[in-house]
Amino acid sequence: MASENGKLRVAAIGDLHVMEDSVAPYRELFTEISGVADVLVLCGDLTNFGKTKEAEILAEDIRSSSIPVLGVLGNHDYECGQPGKVCEILHSAGMIVLDEQAHEIEGVGFAGVKGFLGGFGRGELAPFGEPIVKAFVDEALNESRKLENQLRTLRTERSVAVLHYSPIAGTLEGEPPAILQYLGSQRLCEPIDRFDHVKAVVHGHAHHGTYEGRTMRGIPVYNVARFVCREKFGRPYAVLEI
Ligand SMILES: [Fe+2]
Ligand SMILES: [Fe+2]
Repeated sequence: MASENGKLRVAAIGDLHVMEDSVAPYRELFTEISGVADVLVLCGDLTNFGKTKEAEILAEDIRSSSIPVLGVLGNHDYECGQPGKVCEILHSAGMIVLDEQAHEIEGVGFAGVKGFLGGFGRGELAPFGEPIVKAFVDEALNESRKLENQLRTLRTERSVAVLHYSPIAGTLEGEPPAILQYLGSQRLCEPIDRFDHVKAVVHGHAHHGTYEGRTMRGIPVYNVARFVCREKFGRPYAVLEI
């Protein structure tokens, strides 16, 4: 399955935002991707509001993919308060929804969580003061811990971290500075930089961000929000060789 150089071709796209009046919005694209990649990774905001109908429409398109599909949910998939239902519908179409458990394909590990917000560097929210502020920071820490636990279970030499929110500020360039803290959390970056087997990170959520950045340790991070990929490649997805 892997390409001639022994690498796995990973197609990645985020922010599909499927709406309930869409008609097979990704069928053709997923068929095209099946011809150029070995795995399709979806980086959250798969639906626009997390509605059952939206998830069912996407599930139908996922069935048209002839390569494995895996990924994470995004904040939009939580909007209707039924992320479990969304997962179930996508899972029934064959998608592996990452959250608690890592997955391995052809010797490459995939660890994924939605992630959370909270900011970067000096702008990072600290767990200080009111309980609700601490709870907010705890949510980001929980996501970071889930990612760490998955990365720890992987025995592969190469792995990809899959997120919706960004773990670095670098791929957010182009977004208004006032909203950076809502686009990701530096706390997601800590587990990524702890494991040598992580070769790349993909995320979405920042529709107006920058395609490529790096963690402190130099791991490449790609913002594969479809709008960003469209601008960079003239097509709404990226293909990485891992
Ligand atoms: Fe989005
Ligand atoms: Fe989002």
